[in-house]
Amino acid sequence: MAPRARRRRLLPVLLALCALLCPLQVTFQITPPCASRRHYERFGRCCNKCEPGTYMSSKCTTTSESVCLPCGPDEYLDTWNEEDKCLLHKVCDTGKALVAVEPGNRTAPRRCACTRGYHWSEDCVCCRRNTDCAPGFGVQHPVQLNKDTVCQPCLAGYFSDTISSTEECKPWTNCTILGKTEVRHGTDTSDVVCSPWPPTKLPNERGIYLPTLTLLLLFASVVFVAAVIFGVYYRKKGKALTANLWHWVNEACGRLSENKEM
Ligand SMILES: *[C@@H]1O[C@H](CO)[C@@H](O)[C@H](O)[C@H]1NC(C)=O
Ligand SMILES: *[C@@H]1O[C@H](CO)[C@@H](O)[C@H](O)[C@H]1NC(C)=O
Repeated sequence: MAPRARRRRLLPVLLALCALLCPLQVTFQITPPCASRRHYERFGRCCNKCEPGTYMSSKCTTTSESVCLPCGPDEYLDTWNEEDKCLLHKVCDTGKALVAVEPGNRTAPRRCACTRGYHWSEDCVCCRRNTDCAPGFGVQHPVQLNKDTVCQPCLAGYFSDTISSTEECKPWTNCTILGKTEVRHGTDTSDVVCSPWPPTKLPNERGIYLPTLTLLLLFASVVFVAAVIFGVYYRKKGKALTANLWHWVNEACGRLSENKEM
């Protein structure tokens, strides 16, 4: 019972202390020196600056705060300010190869950059055409907007046959993938040249030649074997055969002559 009672008595005391100190804290934060970026000093007091996107139409007085008004449609202010007017957005002139990369709004300026193929040059304070890379050289990627091209020699297996400020080295054509054969090697300035006909035709030609050749060989071997067999047979039974032949011829002739006589 006793501690609870003590707490009950403490609570109003704490509340009263806070009620006294809390407003004090706020005044302490604002009044001392005008240290904050968001305030300015005038007539010995600290006044509010205007937030980004607004300008100060009238400064504070001893009795009134600053009056801030929003920037116009093509204007901006990107800081806490005491400006009496907003800044105009710049024009990204396409005639000077400029393009808006950030459109800008009331709180941020419009940002221009050189269009593709151009880079900003501090020498002329203008956009300059990007350097062309000669054949055998390609543009290093990624091409950075607003940066001049960096040319690098084409590595083995790559080529560039054009004068260009945008093109990379291209890989040589792979004839194998196209189902063709390579008839000329590639260089750093020229592509590989593939045969205009696919090599798939060669097996077709072989398809025509091969059976013909096989048939011819087969025929030749048959003739050869027949000749050998005939030769062997003739040598062994040559005499008998001739005798048989003579016998048959004589018989035939005899019959013929008999017929004639009849
Ligand atoms: C204004 O533009 C800036 C930069 O493009 C962007 O960060 C900001 O959010 C924009 N503010 C508004 C209100 O659209
Ligand atoms: C062509 O492509 C094939 C299959 O991807 C690969 O094996 C071969 O090495 C390539 N040839 C050349 C010359 O790049």
